[in-house]
Amino acid sequence: MLSVLKNAMNQVKNSDEVLVGRQIENDPVIEGLITDLVDEVHVHNDGIIGIRPAQPELADAFKSRMESVAKLRGRPLYHPYIGTGAGNGPFVELEDGSVKIDLINGIGIHLMGHSHPRVIKAAIRGAISDIVMQGNLQPNKEYLKLSEKLVQIASRKSRLRHVWFSTCGTMANENALKMARQKNSPARFVFAMQNAFAGRSTMMAEVTDNTAYRQGLPEYNEILRIPSYDKRDPQSIEKAVRAMKDQYAKHEEDVSCFVFEPMLGEGGFQPTPREFFIPLLDFCKQNKIAVWADEVQTFARTGEYFAYETLDLGEYIDIVTIAKTVQLGATLYTEEYNPKPGLIAGTFSGSGSSMLAGLEILNMLDEGYLGPKGRIQQIHHQFISGLNRLNETTCKGLVSDAGGMGLMIAFTPFQGKKEQVETLIKKLFQNGMIAFSCGKDPVRIRFLIPAIIQDQDIELALQIVEKSIQQGI
Ligand SMILES: Cc1ncc(COP(=O)(O)O)c(C=O)c1O
Repeated sequence: MLSVLKNAMNQVKNSDEVLVGRQIENDPVIEGLITDLVDEVHVHNDGIIGIRPAQPELADAFKSRMESVAKLRGRPLYHPYIGTGAGNGPFVELEDGSVKIDLINGIGIHLMGHSHPRVIKAAIRGAISDIVMQGNLQPNKEYLKLSEKLVQIASRKSRLRHVWFSTCGTMANENALKMARQKNSPARFVFAMQNAFAGRSTMMAEVTDNTAYRQGLPEYNEILRIPSYDKRDPQSIEKAVRAMKDQYAKHEEDVSCFVFEPMLGEGGFQPTPREFFIPLLDFCKQNKIAVWADEVQTFARTGEYFAYETLDLGEYIDIVTIAKTVQLGATLYTEEYNPKPGLIAGTFSGSGSSMLAGLEILNMLDEGYLGPKGRIQQIHHQFISGLNRLNETTCKGLVSDAGGMGLMIAFTPFQGKKEQVETLIKKLFQNGMIAFSCGKDPVRIRFLIPAIIQDQDIELALQIVEKSIQQGI
């Protein structure tokens, strides 16, 4: 079989009009090998169909690996987690022999779960090119393909027309800030939300509203804080608008941009209604302040590609930043905010594997996941109603305020105290589920659910929540 295909290919190769790269891409032998390779790997992953306890005989070796990681990093890992590289859908295998249901997915990277054959195939196709990492000076064709897809989906309901790649959300945000500041030069200040999270660079740690994340760093005093939406406070919208106007009165013509997460991620997964944003965005437009949506966490999770589509805010948007799901960082911007040459560059744009895997994930989303009746909304409703059911029955009052958007789901356990939540996260882990926290007051349990989760695995997740809550604090 292989030799027949090889002969056919050799005939194609002998024609010198065909580009070598295109020959590789269209080579049925290579494609067959990729399929065989992924199928063969899947034979091993296929057995991973549910959670499994750790294997006692691996305990010592695992403990020593955990200690090595802690020593090398200078502090331990948050979860006792080192993956084997095997997984299947929402399930992931760890080096201690256990299998967990992964509902945090690297804080939102693995939207299609673990070992998805289509994602892995795309990553392999990206990996067999002449280089590993692509750059902004000499990109390969995958750079163009992903750029086209992102601009195509972003431009449908906004004025976004361009995209620039970087390797993470923080760097995408840094680029966004520079674009906003250059266009609105010399304006320096930034409107940012209370409880925002924007990344870990010096400037993004400033935009982030958490002093614990910048302990010992100097204050730059360039952020003007806007209170975030509080559903318990009927005055919430007026308070935010008043704060923006008051701050602006003190810094007139010196505000470059307003950065906001369409729903706060680290800040607590409390959905913010469209009516909250509208007066703030109108004010920014009137005063030529750039409107920048940080969708690093919300992108591809709220039931549409962009949360600004879910909230119908596209007409206001000047800049959007994304990362995580798309497997690299990207800043999308309008013609007006296209920066002057030299402002943004950077060696890396991402690996060919990241680009093709990111593209495949975006293409898959088009196949029934999006829209009000799409799979993302179905998952949301099943999960939320399950959490509410626990709160009303077997875990009375201990699984409160379940909510979020699409695949971003959180609830407040017990009284939402930090120590309670930390203890519960450990219990969930012991019982086979990987979760994380968000929010400050209350602290909440956070899930970034993979889009490929099946109904029965949602029920399994709910059973683990129930059991862990019932074990108490
Ligand atoms: C809203 C938001 N912005 C920015 C970032 C930073 O992205 P990265 O960790 O890829 O640098 C994150 C990461 O969690 C985020 O949630």
